[in-house]
Parts: sequence; C-alpha cells; structure tokens
Amino acid sequence: MREKILNILLDKNKEFVSGEEISEKLGITRTAVWKHIKNIKKQGYEIESVTKKGYKIVKCPDLLTPEIVKYNLSTSLLGKEIVYFDSIGSTNDYAKEIAKDVKEGTIIIAEEQVKGRGRMGKYWHSIKGDGIWVSIILKPDIYPYEASFITQIAGASIVKGLKKLGVDSLIKWPNDIIINNKKVSGILTELGAEIDRINYVVVGIGMNVKTIDFPENVKSMATSIRKEGYNLERIDILKEILEEFERLYSNYIENKDKTECIEICKQNSAIIGKYVYVLKGDEKRKVKCIDITENGNLVIINDNNVKEELISGEVSIRGDKNYV
Ligand code: BTN
Repeated sequence: MREKILNILLDKNKEFVSGEEISEKLGITRTAVWKHIKNIKKQGYEIESVTKKGYKIVKCPDLLTPEIVKYNLSTSLLGKEIVYFDSIGSTNDYAKEIAKDVKEGTIIIAEEQVKGRGRMGKYWHSIKGDGIWVSIILKPDIYPYEASFITQIAGASIVKGLKKLGVDSLIKWPNDIIINNKKVSGILTELGAEIDRINYVVVGIGMNVKTIDFPENVKSMATSIRKEGYNLERIDILKEILEEFERLYSNYIENKDKTECIEICKQNSAIIGKYVYVLKGDEKRKVKCIDITENGNLVIINDNNVKEELISGEVSIRGDKNYV
C-alpha cells in the first residue's frame, strides 16, 4: 500500500494529490493514507501537506530505489524490472544468478556492495550511498566473440551521460572512465555463453559519486564526481547513463550500427596518441596507441614499429607514467 501511495504521488510529478483522491483510488480511509504518508516521510521523502489541497512530493531521498529510478527513467528496455538491495555481496554476482530467469534489461542496484568485484579479481570499493553500483542483464542475439563490444557501449554511455550533466571525462580503453587522470568509474562485463550463442551478458558499472576518502591502495589512482568538484545526484547520473546505453545498445543490436559508439570512444579517448603498457598474462609491452577501429579494437604501433590491433577483453592497459 505504501508503494502504491508513493507511486500516485510520484506520478503527479510534484503536484498536489488530495487525501480523498488517494483514499478513493485505493479503497482505504483518509487516516490510513495519512499514516502511510508518515511512513513515506520517514524514508526520507519531503512531502508538503496543505489543507484542502492534499499532499505533494517536494524532494525524493538520495536513494536508488526502484520507485525513484523508474520515476526518473524514460527507457523502454532498461530498468523495466529493477532488483534493489540496501546491501549485497556483488550486483554482478547476483545478476548472474538470476540472469536466465529474468527479462532482458533487468537491472540490479545496490546502495552498498560488500564483495564488489573489479576486473582481474580485484576488490571494488562500494561504500553505502557513495556511488552507483549497478548491473544490467542483457540477452543479445550476437556471437560470444562480439560481446566485448558491449563494454565499449557502456564506456561511451558513461562519458556521454556525464557530458550531458556538464562533466568531462575520458575513456581509458576499454573499461575505465577517468577524470583528471584518475579513475572515476569502471566496467566489468561478464558473459554466460555456449560456444556459439550467448545466454546472457551482465554489464556491471561502478561509479564513485560522493566518495571523498579512498583506501590507501587506490588513493592515488581513484577519484569521485564530488572530489572533482561536481555536486550531482546519483539518480541524475544513472538516468543519463542508462538512457544513453539503451540508445547505443539498440542501435548496435537492431541496426548493427557501431559508428556513434566508436566515435564517442575515439573522441573521448584518454590513450589515443599516447604511449601505454599493454599487459597480457605475464607479458608487458610498451606501445603507442593510434586509433580505434570500426569494430572497437585498439590500433597500436608495437615495440617493433609494426601496426597491431588489440581486442578488448584480452589485454589490460597501464599508463606510461601515472595511472594513464
Ligand atoms: C573495474 O574497473 O575493474 C570494474 C569495476 C566494476 C564495478 C562494478 S560495481 C557494480 C558491479 N558489481 C560488481 O561486483 N562489480 C561491478
């Protein structure tokens, strides 16, 4: 009932709804409505109540609950189903557990992860309410070898989404988003597949939004949106990213069109024109990055002065001097 009342108020888009209207719609007394409103307020919603006019939401709490996310999102695939946790091990792990039983576009959001995972088995620091910790479940009809391109769609969506909110960031091909040479966001794409067909893809996005103090081991390399001087709400960032993601993803799946995504990745690359180290297993080579191909591969000049293409997902990139 609380959720139904909340949805009525959210649907009214910051206009008043009378207690009478709510009580008639839901078949409960006005006193019951008032009691639920009190509980909704306890959750952090600011609700104005005016005699004869009723109730209106003035401000939503800074939470990424399904009600708040759905209210803000204008997508048709992503976030139609949302699974929300106050705290969980890892949203990617949970997404993989439920992937086969849920619809494409289902997203898992947590306020906190206690076993957040980064690439290469690293720990991903995910403090409660400090960032966006989200996993998107996709079921694309593409070959498994094509799935790594979805990481680049995520990267392009993050950069484009942030730009819409006035934040300039760059992509350290293919997984990291950086601001002022420090990592603000990372992508962990995982695949459930057979040899020739994908069962699901889980795209995990972690973004440091409000974090000020990072653990000692990542301090010199990590930053957050707030640390870079931007006072943005998590919901606004999540909305922009998911809406961009849906657009670029649909264009790729429905029209096989990668051009806009690649263009964003190229224009906002942190490494094109730079020397970086390429890591693959125990191997470490210093190379110069020169381009990204129409398929999303990184073009480099190797240590023997020969052009080579690197496929995302197969290598890691380290900066020449600092992080980038
Ligand atoms: C990286 O840069 O190494 C990737 C970091 C990915 C972190 C996100 S947070 C949401 C999702 N759940 C996880 O456990 N990891 C990803």
